[in-house]
Amino acid sequence: MTKNDVLRRLIQYEGEYLSGEELARGLSLSRTAVWKAIAQLRAEGWPIESVTRRGYRLLPGGDLLSAEGVRAFLRHTELRLEVYRSVGSTNTLLKARAEQGEAAGLVLLASEQTAGRGRMGRSFYSPEGCGLYMSVLYRPDAPAADAVRITACAAVAVAETVEELSGRQAQIKWVNDVLVDGKKVCGILTEASLDCERGAVNYLIVGVGVNTAVPAGDYPEALRGVAGAAFADAAIPQLRCRLAAGILDRLTDFMADPGSEACFEAYRARSIVLGRRVNLLSPGREPAAAEALGLERDYALRVRLDDGTVRRISSGEVSLRLTE
Ligand code: BTN
Repeated sequence: MTKNDVLRRLIQYEGEYLSGEELARGLSLSRTAVWKAIAQLRAEGWPIESVTRRGYRLLPGGDLLSAEGVRAFLRHTELRLEVYRSVGSTNTLLKARAEQGEAAGLVLLASEQTAGRGRMGRSFYSPEGCGLYMSVLYRPDAPAADAVRITACAAVAVAETVEELSGRQAQIKWVNDVLVDGKKVCGILTEASLDCERGAVNYLIVGVGVNTAVPAGDYPEALRGVAGAAFADAAIPQLRCRLAAGILDRLTDFMADPGSEACFEAYRARSIVLGRRVNLLSPGREPAAAEALGLERDYALRVRLDDGTVRRISSGEVSLRLTE
C-alpha cells in the first residue's frame, strides 16, 4: 500500500529530510501519490514535518511501536505482524489464535501487557513504553524436545540484537534469560501444544519480553537489583521497531535449523553460568547448591551437587540462581 511504503521510508530515515521527488522516485510513485500519502499519515497522527525545498521528515525522537515501523527494518517480509498498544498477554492471545487454526508466522507485538506471564507460573512485569513484548507462532514439524533448542535460539537472537544495537555485551543465564551488566533484561516463555500420539508439536509459541528502558520511578521493589534495561539511553531512533525486527530476522534464520552448531556456540559463548556456583530451585523443594560444569548439545546443564553427584538437568524442572 502506497501510504505504508511512504511511512516505512520515512521511518528508515527518521529525522532526515527526503524530498517529494526522492520519495516518488525511490518508491516508483507519482509526486501526487506521495503528497496524498503524507496527508493521510498526518491525519493518522504521524509527526511529519514538511519544509520547502528540503522535503518531508519524520520528527526524531519517537519510539512508537508500529507494524510499518518493524517492517521498515525487517528482512523476513513473510512474517505477519499485529501490533497492540496494550494486551493482557501476547502469549495468551496468540494461543487462542493458534487454537482457532491460525497459520505459522503470525507475530503479536505489544507496548504494554497487563497480565504478562513468565516461566513457572510467575508474572512478567510489562509496563507501557519501557519494553517490547512479542510472541511468535510456529508449527514446526519437530519432536517436542526441539522446543528447548528453539527457545535457546530465541535467547541468542535477543542477545545478538541487543549487542548490535547497544554496543553492550549480553550474556545468557541458563536456560533463557538474557542479561546485561548482570541484570535480567529479557525473559522468554515458550509454550507448546503437543500431539501425544505423534509425539510431535502441534504449535509452539515463543514469547519474548525485553526491558528496553528503566520505568519512571524504577522497577517494583521485588525486581530491583534483578531486572535491568537493555539500553542505557533512549538515543537510538525507532529502538523498539529495530529491536523487534532484529530478533525476528535472527530467530527466523535460526528456525531453518534450530539444532545448529552455530546457535549452540553463540549460546555457550555468552553463558554466564558455566564454571560458576549456582543454586538449583525447584518448586516445593529446598534449594540445592551446585557447580555448573557444562552444557550438553540439547541444552541440558551438567552440574555437580555439593554431595559430589553429577546430574544432568533440563530446563523444565528447575530455575537457577547464581550464588558467587
Ligand atoms: C520469564 O522470564 O519467566 C519469561 C518471561 C516471558 C515474557 C514474555 S513477554 C511476551 C510474552 N507474553 C507473555 O505473557 N509472556 C511472554
